[in-house]
Amino acid sequence: MAVIFTPQGDKDFFTPFGPMMGYVRMPARFVDDMNAAITRNLEDHSGQLVGKVREELRFDRALIDMAAAALGQTLIEYHIRASRRGTFGDYEHRTKQYELNIAGGWFVRQFAGDYNPLHIHTGAALSCVGYLKLPDGIEAEWEEDYRDHHPSHGHLQFAHGTDSHYSVSNFMVKPRVGDFWIFPSYMFHCVYPFRSEGERRSFSMNLSVMESEARPAPGQAA
Ligand SMILES: [Fe+2]
Repeated sequence: MAVIFTPQGDKDFFTPFGPMMGYVRMPARFVDDMNAAITRNLEDHSGQLVGKVREELRFDRALIDMAAAALGQTLIEYHIRASRRGTFGDYEHRTKQYELNIAGGWFVRQFAGDYNPLHIHTGAALSCVGYLKLPDGIEAEWEEDYRDHHPSHGHLQFAHGTDSHYSVSNFMVKPRVGDFWIFPSYMFHCVYPFRSEGERRSFSMNLSVMESEARPAPGQAA
């Protein structure tokens, strides 16, 4: 059915077009637990990924469950908000049940000179990235890079569509430990190299949010 918009108030400014991004701070305890997990014997995942980086390690089941427990609610909230926005609010989440289906997750261990070429993710509706660690010297490197008119060292850049009046086609994310970003899997993104000694560590996951109509509680009318 066609999506029909009816203004609710006397004035509105809204953004019906383009993809929605999600952002949340991760719990510090979760960041610590994820960093501790890097010492586990995890499978090399680099054959499936485009990154020109030192190491990409596939999550085991326990890591997927840990990430789902820490971030699942926010990922489902993204799904609900994006679904409501796409239908101008004609979407009732209170009668639905949601389930996360995480197709996979992996750590990205990036060192000086490493980078991640422009790419999308496939095989799931949503993707995400969380930052776990940054090189000690990165702030000094950024201070210098920010004197340039287009800083980008170690940054993540998202791109979608074409620049137009009042509508941008890309934006840059400066990584911060504890930041978590959610984006549609088809959205192009890349990561630029940096020069500092030490590790820039992040993780990504591909997932879908499955929805079904909630069943009424026993004794409750349908
Ligand atoms: Fe990616």
